[in-house]
Amino acid sequence: MSGQKKTTTDNITLTAIKKKKCKIAVLGLGYVGLPLALEFARANFFVTGIDPDVKKVEAIYDGHSYISDISDEELKAVVSQGYMKSTADFATLEEMDVVFICVPTPFSKYKEPDVSYVIASAHNIVEHMKKKQLIILESTTFPGTTEEVVLPILESTGLEAGKDFYLVFSPERVDPGNRKFAIRNTPKVIGGLGEKSTKLAKTLYSKIIAENLVIPVSAPRIAEMTKLLENIFRSVNIALINELTFLCDRMKLDIWEVIDAASSKPFGFMPFYPGPGVGGHCIPVDPYYLSWKAREYDFYTKFIELAAEINLSMPRYVLSKVIDTLNDEGKSLRGSSILALGVAFKPNINDARNSPAIKVIEELTCKGAKVDYSDPYIPSIGNGSTYFSVASKIGFHKSTKITAKKLKEYDLVVILVEHDKFDFPFVVRHSKLIVDTKNVCKNITPGKGCRIVKI
Ligand SMILES: NC(=O)c1ccc[n+]([C@@H]2O[C@H](COP(=O)([O-])OP(=O)(O)OC[C@H]3O[C@@H](n4cnc5c(N)ncnc54)[C@H](O)[C@@H]3O)[C@@H](O)[C@H]2O)c1
Repeated sequence: MSGQKKTTTDNITLTAIKKKKCKIAVLGLGYVGLPLALEFARANFFVTGIDPDVKKVEAIYDGHSYISDISDEELKAVVSQGYMKSTADFATLEEMDVVFICVPTPFSKYKEPDVSYVIASAHNIVEHMKKKQLIILESTTFPGTTEEVVLPILESTGLEAGKDFYLVFSPERVDPGNRKFAIRNTPKVIGGLGEKSTKLAKTLYSKIIAENLVIPVSAPRIAEMTKLLENIFRSVNIALINELTFLCDRMKLDIWEVIDAASSKPFGFMPFYPGPGVGGHCIPVDPYYLSWKAREYDFYTKFIELAAEINLSMPRYVLSKVIDTLNDEGKSLRGSSILALGVAFKPNINDARNSPAIKVIEELTCKGAKVDYSDPYIPSIGNGSTYFSVASKIGFHKSTKITAKKLKEYDLVVILVEHDKFDFPFVVRHSKLIVDTKNVCKNITPGKGCRIVKI
């Protein structure tokens, strides 16, 4: 609805949440929204997932999961019991008591925040807003988004936050592929606009997460900053290790052995590991959200920028390792045949957004190598596939099936992702030359015909 208030007696109350009588909508059915929707549906809430991507809506309707952490069976169970529906029709919002926003927050070509999806969601809600709705933003974003971007759109209806509707920011910490921590056992930070918003959200999340794991903070912007701190912490520490990797290479020291030894310290040290770079929707993106916001305060986040620069240089470092390794065998990169193992941005998932592995493949291809890839989770990259935008330079590729014969034929195999499904002893047994960016071959003794180089 726009401009006019729609009143209803069907208001959200603590009792409705406690009795699971409130209806929940999840805007955005991706890596964050689908697991969240599933969790509430499993807890016997009536959940409607809303997404303009009709393919996703239909997949859910048919009980087909497109996210590797969720099985078809899990999805089918809640759909057949009537706890989970999916639609592309935003008018359904009129019936909802709770609305989660789990839409993308990417960056632009110039690495500036793109909150257009969040803005679109706020407008979608306004079109169909009902009094006393609880609206929770889960998308990662810069401090101030909830109050400076979302709130004014919602209040353009004439409704007042804290009185006519409730607004909360709660960062999503879901870690696709993580088998130890899922929504249920990961602490959830919530920052509501006003006490009532926080209380409603705390009660709601406590239905799917143990109450002591729901952590209220004083304001949405504290919760927004918390999420950025977590991801910047990772970005900076990975960058530090990557920098020390360059140094250890020159000093002929094994960085992996150094990290293992340092990890024996039971306090004050947390291991991070080198690799071909950082990928996904979070670590390479979120730091820029804060750098951009900081400029509004005449503040330049040098640490964050430096970390991003080092992490972005890793694919080229891997390229140089491959060139040197081939060179030692008297071969040039141009014309060499190379197998890249893994293109996902991290192990055991089917997500290749901003994947450093794809950047390595691009670099190798641009320098004249013939590159195949193998990834059990990602059947194709390149033209026409989901990953076209990131893989535009490498044309269309299909995942190669690994066989002993094929491994023998490649001039070099570069290991980029440590998927559990890869049989690394088999790879070592049949390959001539390996560049291992993840140290997965550390306990495998190569035979006479194989040489392994670590980064
Ligand atoms: N993927 C992760 O591991 C992860 C972890 C924590 C936080 N996050 C954050 O969560 C947010 C979502 O990330 P994601 O990985 O789930 O993204 P995603 O791309 O997998 O899913 C987003 C979904 O939103 C849909 N969408 C776009 N516009 C919409 C609209 N107006 N209304 C409804 N749906 C709309 C898209 O079609 C897509 O299906 C981002 O802010 C991200 O930074 C992601």
